[in-house]
Order: sequence, then C-alpha cells, then structure tokens
Amino acid sequence: MPPVISAEGLYKVFGKRPERGVEALRQGRTREELRDEGLTAAVIDAGFSVEAGEIFVVMGLSGSGKSTLIRMVNGLLPATDGELRIGEDVLSAMGPAKVREVRRRRISMVFQHFALLPHRTVGENAAYGLTISGMNRSDREARAAEALKMVGLEGWGGYRPGDLSGGMQQRVGLARALAADTDVLLMDEAFSALDPLIRRDMQDQLVDLQQHLDKTILFITHDLNEAMRLGDRIAMMRDGRIVQIGTSDEILNEPANDYVASFIKDVDRSRVLTASSVMEHPSQTLGGEQGPRTAHKLLRETQNPWLIVLKRDRTPMGVLWEDDVAEAVSAGRDDLPWSAVHEMPVVAHDTPIAELFTLSAQHLSPLVVVDEDGRFAGVVPRVTLLTAAGVGLGEHEPDAPSGSPDPGLPDHPDPGPDSADLRSTDVLGGDR
Ligand SMILES: Nc1ncnc2c1ncn2[C@@H]1O[C@H](COP(=O)(O)OP(=O)(O)OP(=O)(O)O)[C@@H](O)[C@H]1O
Ligand SMILES: [Mg+2]
Repeated sequence: MPPVISAEGLYKVFGKRPERGVEALRQGRTREELRDEGLTAAVIDAGFSVEAGEIFVVMGLSGSGKSTLIRMVNGLLPATDGELRIGEDVLSAMGPAKVREVRRRRISMVFQHFALLPHRTVGENAAYGLTISGMNRSDREARAAEALKMVGLEGWGGYRPGDLSGGMQQRVGLARALAADTDVLLMDEAFSALDPLIRRDMQDQLVDLQQHLDKTILFITHDLNEAMRLGDRIAMMRDGRIVQIGTSDEILNEPANDYVASFIKDVDRSRVLTASSVMEHPSQTLGGEQGPRTAHKLLRETQNPWLIVLKRDRTPMGVLWEDDVAEAVSAGRDDLPWSAVHEMPVVAHDTPIAELFTLSAQHLSPLVVVDEDGRFAGVVPRVTLLTAAGVGLGEHEPDAPSGSPDPGLPDHPDPGPDSADLRSTDVLGGDR
C-alpha cells in the first residue's frame, strides 16, 4: 500500500517569483540571504511519508514552517516545488478544482481556535462540512450526532458553542472533522489553546479514537511532551527544514543534532518511555512442562537468579527462583512443584515507565511485559528501572544500580550484573 501522505523535495517560498528562491537554496544560499531579497523560505526540501493509521507529529519552534507544511498537505497552499501526494493523487500536479475534490473526499482539518460558527448550534457546527458536500438534512443530523457522541458530547447538539467550555468547543471541532468521515485528519496545534488537564484528556481521547477509527493523522505541535504522547513518529522542524524523523525513543536516545537535543532536555522521560522501550529479553525462559533439571541448566546459563515460566502459547505463567529449583533438584523430583512457580507483576508493553515504579517496589521479581495478545515480550529488571528513571538513560555508569537513588525500594535479591550487561544478554527465547 502506498503511504497515505508523502512529500518529496517539497518547498514553499513566499515572495515575488518564489522559484528563484528554490534555485538559490539548492545552490547553497541560506534562508537569511533569501530574506534580504524579500523571500521567506518557509519549507525547505521536506521529505516524509505517513502510513495508513499512523499519527505523525510535526514539531518545531514558532516560525519553523509547520503550519505552512500542513496547509500544503491540505491543498490550501500550492507548493513552490517538489511533490506532494495523498495516496495515489499527486496534489502538487493538480489544478485547484481537482485539489478541492481530493480534499473534500479525503481530508479534514482541526484548527487551534476551533473555528466554530457562533450563531449555529453545536449540531449544525458538527455537520458543517456535510452541508457543503450537499448531503440531505436528516443524514447530516444523524452523522453529526454520531460524531458528537464519539467525542463525548452526546446531547449537546442543541446548544450554541458559546455555552460550552474551551475543551468542549475543541471537541466540536474534532466532531466536525470526524463527521466528514475522511481517512486523513490534519490537526494544527489543535490542543494548544486548552489548559493542561483538558489537553491531556483530549490527547487520550484522540489516541482512543485513533484506535477505533484508524485515521491517518498529521498532528502539529510545538510541545514535545504532546508530540511524544501522540506520535507514532515525529518530524522535528527547524528553520523550514525537517532535521530528524523518528519514533519518540529514537528522538530521545539519538537526537540528530544539538537543536533536537535541546528540545528533549525538558521531557519527562518516565512518561514518554514505555515498558517495551526499556524491557530486556532474558537469555532463557522455561516451558511450563519442563522439569527441574532443565530449569537448573537454564539458570546456569542465565545471569539471573530467576526464570520466567511460559505456557505453550507463550503467555507468562510465573517466575521461578533459583532456590526453589535447587531444592527440587536435590529432592530428585522429576517435575517442578507448582508452589515453586510464583506470581509476578505483568504489565502491557505500552505502560509508561512512570507507572512501573510502584509495581516494581512491591515485588522482588522482574516486571514481565506482554504484547497485545498477552504473550511474553520481555522483562524489566528492577535495576533497569532505576537507571531509566535517572537522567542518563543509555549512558549508565558501570556502578549505576548500586547507587540506587530510591531508599524506599527493598534490596534486590541478588546484586545482579549492571544494567549495561543486562542489555547485552542474548535474545534467545526460541527455546521452545
Ligand atoms: N502567507 C505568508 N506570506 C509570507 N510569509 C509567510 C506566510 N505564511 C507564513 N509565512 C512565514 O513562513 C515562516 C513559517 O511560518 P509558519 O506559520 O509555517 O510557522 P509555524 O511553524 O507554523 O509557526 P507557529 O508555531 O508560530 O504557528 C514564517 O517565517 C512566516 O512568517
Ligand atoms: Mg503554525
């Protein structure tokens, strides 16, 4: 399947005869030099693609060219140069009438300041795009009511926008975009005018809606925490150029340059990083039907005092400690006593690590991470969690774990190898 949105060598220069700006930039002239000639290079040589169902975030400081970029994608601004596609449609090669047709069929946009009509009802506002498309009234009303329900505004259709709070008004803006039922949703600083709590709420709701509706979303923000919460991938823009595209993990751990690095300084890593981004793959796991001698052998091969026991379908069954194994072996047992398989905390792969700390403090065993289907994905040793909580994730000191910053945590049953070693344990797991 082709990407839903793709751009290649995309330029937008404002001013008289902008093409000469593109030429100059290609020859290595700077944005500042162009400005002296009355040209503003708002978007320079942008290339990216957004896959179906992805939330792609564009982020950058004020003036970096984000709105210009999204307005080109929306067909509101023609590109000065380069190619822009919506699916198979090459927007950059079409006349205005054809562009309008593609937009109506595929694209809706949510704006920062809601752009609601104050004298129309909430229901009429939600149905606004449908009025333009010529749909009959009862269909329009049904669609609008359904969209309002999706954003939690069931029953508000008869009110005026002015009767609603800011957060609710932005929900109407979102409902209007959803009512249009296009597969592409463009959002330019859509939550930036909302206060922080409502904003968090809207972010959660968008992620929720996205999971149900499977839209392709291009989301613009200058808030990196928001970008990281929402974005499957993030494009960092600076002075008209995209300087890095990556997942939040990639941006956090491998910033492409000082500009990106300075952005991520303030990010709360514990809210952005998830269990799957810090989990490790233990070198060995034990099958539920395997006996004490196998367990003993596997324990000798791993560097941990425990083994994760998995069922046949690879869902986790429990954790087995080395003492219990030693006891079963010396008692000459052929099978493992069930009482030896202990419960352990299990978390979903997308749990923010901020939520793992308490769990970790309550258990001696590692946290077990499972995928969407509940199957074993990896473990988060307590030691890793402590390191990840510190500022220097990815640059741990050799003795970082022993310098545990949190006196509230019970001691690990085993001093354990340091986290750098844990990271490098082999991924096996194919033992069954
Ligand atoms: N219609 C226009 N005519 C001339 N210059 C423009 C026009 N629109 C935008 N610009 C310029 O292009 C540059 C990028 O602006 P743009 O609005 O895309 O930035 P932005 O990243 O969206 O910023 P913000 O975060 O403030 O919304 C700026 O220097 C701006 O002044
Ligand atoms: Mg803008």
